[in-house]
Amino acid sequence: MDEQTADAASRHVPVLLERCVELLAPALAAPGAVLVDCTLGMGGHTEGVLRAIEHVRVVGIDRDPQALALASERLAPFGERFTGVHAVYDEIGDVVERLGLPGVQGVLMDLGVSSLQLDEAERGFAYAHDAPLDMRMDPTTGPTAADVLNTYDERDIARVLRVYGEERFAARIARGVVRFRERTPLTRTSELVDIVRAGVPAATRRTGGHPAKRTFQALRIEVNGELAALERALPAAIDVLAVGGRIVVESYQSLEDRLVKRALAAGATSSAPPDLPVEPVTHAPYLRLLTRGAEEADEAELARNPRAQSVRLRAAERLRPTPDHLRTPRRAA
Ligand SMILES: C[S@@+](CC[C@H](N)C(=O)[O-])C[C@H]1O[C@@H](n2cnc3c(N)ncnc32)[C@H](O)[C@@H]1O
Repeated sequence: MDEQTADAASRHVPVLLERCVELLAPALAAPGAVLVDCTLGMGGHTEGVLRAIEHVRVVGIDRDPQALALASERLAPFGERFTGVHAVYDEIGDVVERLGLPGVQGVLMDLGVSSLQLDEAERGFAYAHDAPLDMRMDPTTGPTAADVLNTYDERDIARVLRVYGEERFAARIARGVVRFRERTPLTRTSELVDIVRAGVPAATRRTGGHPAKRTFQALRIEVNGELAALERALPAAIDVLAVGGRIVVESYQSLEDRLVKRALAAGATSSAPPDLPVEPVTHAPYLRLLTRGAEEADEAELARNPRAQSVRLRAAERLRPTPDHLRTPRRAA
């Protein structure tokens, strides 16, 4: 681990760590309990759980090989209690099966990018540093932000910025991108920042933070297929939870939170047709919500941790197996 990377890890404060541990602990108390941390990152949450709950074992998934290497080094003192896996989290079913586990007692998801990814200027996630337009969480595979900007048609670029970034000036920015690339392909984050500045009216530029923030967020979500992966991962994660197992999800963006809310509510609601006089046991809810709505960070957490600003935490416990008529078919390998 180089010094800069170690420093990024030590500065990162896991969001709502105590609350996550509190919610997961009852499910992880028994010997042999396993937690899958679907978003290992720098291993902050995983380390907190390993320290707080004796004997628990954690399987940490991350699609970013650098994060996985860093966290694995950090968590080496826990020996066999930690297993790192390079995967996209929607593969959780295969990961659990490959490890020979019949089910797991906890699942944690702390969505989005890590401070490490934002701090590594060369990866192109940050509008504050000039770097290649990459933004892939797994830099070994898939299209880059430059590929998206240089190949999507103008309408699709505008849609990405509007839907994933809630960018009011999406159409003007998309126009600017297309004009730029008619001369030469976009390659650098600074070129995109200049295009956004030119597309956002001066009066708006003076309010609401950096004008490129929403555009960068939108592109990152598109490049990494974040919402599609989350939509597949939530039912897959619930499927691997043993009865009594608990899932905790932290989202930082309204589209993510909506998917989480929907997936948990689907399990916590009876699937019986409303006109049946008696609810068949097969249609009773298989999840119990552990949070009322979405929990947010309090003042003390916000003072410690600026990343907690937009967090929305939801959690649920499995009450019974998912009835057959609601099971999601496993993805073909
Ligand atoms: C916010 S960070 C997690 C930080 C971590 N909780 C900690 O305390 O250090 C999110 C991590 O999840 C990873 N990630 C995001 N989407 C993923 C996906 N679909 N599959 C696997 N890993 C993903 C990112 O690469 C990043 O390292």
